[in-house]
Amino acid sequence: MDLGLRGKNVLITGATQGIGRRTANLFAEEGANVAICSRSPESVNKAVKEMKVIADGKITGAPCNIKNKEEYEAWIEAMAEELGGIDVFIPNVSAGGGADSEKNWWKSFEIDVLGTVRGVEAVIPHMEKRGGGAVTMISTTAAVETFMVPQAYNAMKAALITYAKQLSQAHGEQGVRVNSVSPGPIYFDGGAWDMIKISNEKFYERTEKTHALGRLGTPEEVASCIVFLSSAAASWVTGVNLVVDGGYTKRVQF
Ligand SMILES: NC(=O)c1ccc[n+]([C@@H]2O[C@H](COP(=O)([O-])OP(=O)(O)OC[C@H]3O[C@@H](n4cnc5c(N)ncnc54)[C@H](OP(=O)(O)O)[C@@H]3O)[C@@H](O)[C@H]2O)c1
Repeated sequence: MDLGLRGKNVLITGATQGIGRRTANLFAEEGANVAICSRSPESVNKAVKEMKVIADGKITGAPCNIKNKEEYEAWIEAMAEELGGIDVFIPNVSAGGGADSEKNWWKSFEIDVLGTVRGVEAVIPHMEKRGGGAVTMISTTAAVETFMVPQAYNAMKAALITYAKQLSQAHGEQGVRVNSVSPGPIYFDGGAWDMIKISNEKFYERTEKTHALGRLGTPEEVASCIVFLSSAAASWVTGVNLVVDGGYTKRVQF
């Protein structure tokens, strides 16, 4: 199946490790031109260098803290200029989970929600100029079922699913598709579940057993779904939330 991504211009935030990085790799392998960011110049340079080895298209990136509105918008404009437009946008950065404090609610709102909203508002005019595009947001299964304790992460990620659906209705006529992907627990070295495995092994093992498929997912297994939804192979898919969790959630999804 041809995903039709060759020559498409893709922007992914927070793509130096984990799901974002594997997604950037896959887009690069499909022949897309890819622009990435993270807060660390060293990590961005390293990732860009490594991706260039597997890529046919152009690979670029620059450090950017998406928390800073001006810096973030400037990064989007600079990447759009360097690649020659924007076809696909993956706002992947999250503030992550944390204690249920007011500070964390603000942080999650600023990074997860505003970080997505500001990105979308900056990229949509570029997509409209090109006659369409695809935005794929990254939510979580913690948004669609109760998970752990009440906390900002779960609720703010839930807001993204509704926002994506609304956007899909508002921008369909301009050929812009908007979807979200909700991964379950994903394991990779240095990631959040690696930390949980070290700090709370019993909880990690219980979580593993709760999956219908008996293990945690890999970043690649989420990345392939993000890339598919963002590609021409999913041209008739908009406004959906694709749960990618190896059977971790138990609800019936109609
Ligand atoms: N891992 C999971 O189990 C899981 C499950 C469900 C959903 N998700 C979602 O999937 C997405 C990716 O999570 P992940 O666990 O794969 O990755 P991660 O370990 O959270 O890494 C995130 C990336 O974002 C960058 N980053 C963090 N804050 C940033 C900021 N303010 N500005 C720019 N870049 C920033 C990091 O690099 P720097 O630190 O160098 O900036 C890194 O490249 C998130 O939206 C997360 O909520 C993850």
